[in-house]
Amino acid sequence: VLRRLVRSSLSRINRWLEVDPADLPQPDPEVDDFIYPYLNWIFAGMARDGMRRSYAWGVLHGANLAKSLGIPRISVLEFGVAGGNGLVELERIAARVEQVLGGIQIDIYGFDTGEGLPAPRDYRDTPNLNMGGTLKMDRAKLEKRLSRAKLVLGNVEATMPTFMKSNPAPVAFMACDFVHYTSTVHGLKFLEGKPDMLLPRVHCYFDDIMGFTHSDYNGERLAIHEFNACHEMRKLSPIFGLKYYLPERYANEMWPEKYWLAHLFDHPRYADKDNLVRYHRLELRTD
Ligand SMILES: C[S@@+](CC[C@H](N)C(=O)[O-])C[C@H]1O[C@@H](n2cnc3c(N)ncnc32)[C@H](O)[C@@H]1O
Repeated sequence: VLRRLVRSSLSRINRWLEVDPADLPQPDPEVDDFIYPYLNWIFAGMARDGMRRSYAWGVLHGANLAKSLGIPRISVLEFGVAGGNGLVELERIAARVEQVLGGIQIDIYGFDTGEGLPAPRDYRDTPNLNMGGTLKMDRAKLEKRLSRAKLVLGNVEATMPTFMKSNPAPVAFMACDFVHYTSTVHGLKFLEGKPDMLLPRVHCYFDDIMGFTHSDYNGERLAIHEFNACHEMRKLSPIFGLKYYLPERYANEMWPEKYWLAHLFDHPRYADKDNLVRYHRLELRTD
């Protein structure tokens, strides 16, 4: 009992001593070589306010890319809404990002059957982990909580083609929480869209790709690999070593390992300068 008491007091003291990165002075985006210190400072403020970090980071970076390309309006997508906690979070995150970055409007879409998970079709839908009909939405309850997000209800196999024909603002961020391989395959079709509905790079978060029995041969990872095999000029790649570019406090969380970037090499704006690297300074030091 004594040991537990000392341990919990020490960790509380440790937390108290640790500087919250949101309390550090705001870095000047015009001064640093890279945009990371500035965006990390904004991100830390969102994290301190309890926003879902796995979504906040991608929406912030997606909006930053749009802003640096002079694109004033973007879409963010959640694949799999269930009760709606993620979509409510996206509304909160979008409002903050619009406010801090300025000049960006964010449209939010949540895709879901409305009736829970479809039945797994075969081993690729990890039937050992999931059952059809679970994770149902209470639509009336969720709609009362939402202020601006649009629900796209129905099986994504049917709703995605309609969504793509509806001229959405360019997609900057997608969070995939469909769980099933089959659903993810149909969700990822948005990456086949015309350039005017996509940023040249789309930040993608895949929730169900670690632990349990997730692998390269089933679930969301298999859908990613198949997408890459079928597309010559559009590829999904992990953002390698993302943890090293985050505030230390958040570096060892699981979500940075679930981030991928969709590269649209055939997008007319792929080569346009973004503001991730501002200066290239490697003069020989005098000391
Ligand atoms: C894990 S839950 C989503 C949880 C939510 N993202 C959150 O953070 O609270 C997965 C959801 O994906 C939806 N889903 C799975 N396959 C789908 C499909 N083919 N079409 C539409 N929705 C689907 C299910 O209805 C289910 O509610």
